[in-house]
Amino acid sequence: MMSGRIPQSVIEQIRTANDLAEVIGSYIPLKQAGGNSLALCPFHKENTPSFTVNPQRQIYHCFGCHAHGDVFKFLQEYEHLEFIEAVKRLAERAGIPLEFEENPQAERSRRKKDLLLHIHSELAKRWHEVLMNEEAGKPARDYLKTRGITRGGAELFQLGYAPQSWEDTVNWARTRKFDLQAMQEAGLVAEKEGKCYGRFRGRLMFPIHDEQGRVIGFSGRVLEAEAKAAKYVNSPETILFHKSKVFYGMDKARREILSAKAALICEGQIDTMACHFAGLNNVVAPQGTALTADHARILKRYTSEVILCFDSDTAGQSAAVRSFDPLLESELAVRVLAVPSPHDPDSYIAEKGIGAFRKLMNSAPSFFDFYLTHLVGDHDVNTERGRREITQAMGLIARKAKDSVLLDDIVQKTAFAIGASAEAVRSEFHRIKVPVKRLSQISEPTKDVAELQIDPPSQRERWLLRLVFYERAFSDWAADCLDCRWINHEQIRSILSRAAQTGDSPEVLISEMDSSCSCLLSEVLADSSEIPSPSRQLQDLVTLMRDSYLDRKLAELTRLMASQPNLPEEELMCILEEQHGLQEQKQESLPEVPASVVA
Ligand code: CTP
Ligand code: MN
Repeated sequence: MMSGRIPQSVIEQIRTANDLAEVIGSYIPLKQAGGNSLALCPFHKENTPSFTVNPQRQIYHCFGCHAHGDVFKFLQEYEHLEFIEAVKRLAERAGIPLEFEENPQAERSRRKKDLLLHIHSELAKRWHEVLMNEEAGKPARDYLKTRGITRGGAELFQLGYAPQSWEDTVNWARTRKFDLQAMQEAGLVAEKEGKCYGRFRGRLMFPIHDEQGRVIGFSGRVLEAEAKAAKYVNSPETILFHKSKVFYGMDKARREILSAKAALICEGQIDTMACHFAGLNNVVAPQGTALTADHARILKRYTSEVILCFDSDTAGQSAAVRSFDPLLESELAVRVLAVPSPHDPDSYIAEKGIGAFRKLMNSAPSFFDFYLTHLVGDHDVNTERGRREITQAMGLIARKAKDSVLLDDIVQKTAFAIGASAEAVRSEFHRIKVPVKRLSQISEPTKDVAELQIDPPSQRERWLLRLVFYERAFSDWAADCLDCRWINHEQIRSILSRAAQTGDSPEVLISEMDSSCSCLLSEVLADSSEIPSPSRQLQDLVTLMRDSYLDRKLAELTRLMASQPNLPEEELMCILEEQHGLQEQKQESLPEVPASVVA
C-alpha cells in the first residue's frame, strides 16, 4: 500500500540528488566514452556495449534492446521495484527525508506493516538459531540429514525449527515485548479460551521471502512422515502475505530467471531448494496454490517462458492443466516437465543427478504437445468417440492460442494424432461452443461487462452477494458455477472473482479489498438475519442472471443481423451457430447448489 503521496517537488529533489551515472555505476561497470558513459546492457545479453548514459539529460538508452529512462526507471527495472519503492530507495541514498502528505489511515497501515516485517524477520532469525545451534533443534537437524539438506543449504534458505511447545513462541514474544495482538493477526500465534499459543510447533520452518528478501510469512513442515497433523501449515493471508502473489524462492531466483530467460516452476519448497542446491537457480514455487493471474503477471515481468514442473501422477498433471490458463492469458510460452514416476524433482535429482534433470528440462514439450500426448493416452484414437473427445479438448485450449502460427501447429498435430485431415480438425474446432468462463479463472474485468456498470448495484446483485457468503459451501459452488459475465456491477464482480480465486472469507476480503468493495461487502453482510431456503434462492437467482445474460446476447445477435441485411453467408452462419449455442445453454441446468447446513 502507498504511504501517503510524495509531493512532486520532493521527487524532483530526489532526482537531482542522485546522479544517474553514479547510481548505474554502483550496479554495473561504466566506461567513459566522449561525453557519455557506456556499458554492457544489463537488460539484455550482449558482447559489445550499446547501453549509454547521458549525464546532461540524466537518461539512459540501450541501442540494442531500447531500454531507456531516468534514474527512477533504472532502479525500477533493475531491482524490479514499484515506482514508490524506487523513490524511497533513492531518497534514502541521498539522505532526503520523505515528507508524506497527511494520510493517517495509510500511515497506520504502514506502521503495522513495518512492525510485522520486523517481527517476522526476528522470528525467522530465532527459529534459524534453534535449528542450527540449540538443543531443542536436534530432531530437526537429524531430519535435514535424512533429506540431504546441508548446513549451508539451511543457511541459504534461512530454514528454522519451531520447538515442540505451545508456549515457546508466546514466551519469546513476551520477552521481546512484541505485540501479541499483531502476531495473532499475522497467524503466528492463536488464542483459545483466553490462552495464547504458538501456531507453529515442532515444525521445520521455511520463511517465505518477498522479492526483496524480506520475510513476509512462514510455511512449516512436520518432521515425521506419519504425523496426524497437516503436513504443511502456512501463514494465512495477512497484510504482508498474499499467497496468490508470492513465489517461494523468487528473491533468490529472479536474477537467474532474467539471464536464463525462463523460469522453472516446481510444486513445493523442498523441490525448489533441491534445484538451487544443484546449481539450477531459475526456480520458484507457488505457495501451495494453483497459479493465479497475479502469479502470471509477476513472471511476465521477468521472462516470457515458463516451464511447469509437476509430478507425473494425475494430481500433478491436472495441476499443470489448471495452471496453464492464467499463464497463457498473459501470453507466456509454457512448457511442461512431467517428472517420471515415482519421483518429484527433489528425489529425481537426488537419484539421477542434476544433469539428467536438466535434460528433462531442455526437452520439455510445449504445453499443447504435452496435453495432446496426455489426451491420446487417455482416449482410444481407434474409436469415433475417442477421436471426438480429443478434438473437443484440443479445440477448447486452442482458443487460448493467441497467434495463428501456433494455432496452425495445434491443428496439424491434432490431425496427425487422430489420423484426420487438418481441414476437418479445423472445422471441428470452429464448431466448439465457447465454455462458460468461470469466476475462478477471471482476473481483470472483461470489456463487455465493464460497459454495463451501474452504480449502486441492483437489489438482485446485492442479494446475490448476501447469498454467496451465507455459507462456505455456497461460495465454493459459486466459484465453480457462476460466470462473471452474468454480473453487471463492477465491485460485486471483483469481490466474487477474488473470493473464487483465493477462497478468502468475507472477513479477509473486507480487510483487504479496496474501500469501494469492502464497504459494499460489509454493508451487505451487516444484515445477519436468517435466509429462508437459501440453496433454492441461490440456485434460482443465478439461473435467472444467467438467462438474462443469454437473452441480452441473443438480442444483440438479432440486432446485428437486422442492421446488416447483406452479411456474407459465412458470417451469417457463424451468427446463427452462436445463436443456436446460446439457446442450448439456456436449456442446460446449472449444477445443484449444496443443501444448507445452517439450521
Ligand atoms: N502444501 C501445502 N499444504 C499441504 C501440503 C502441501 O501448502 N497440506 C504445499 C507446500 O508448499 C508443499 C507443496 O504444496 O511444498 C507440495 O506438496 P508435497 O508434494 O506434498 O510436498 P513436497 O514439497 O514434496 O515436500 P516433501 O518432499 O517434504 O514431501
Ligand atoms: Mn517431495
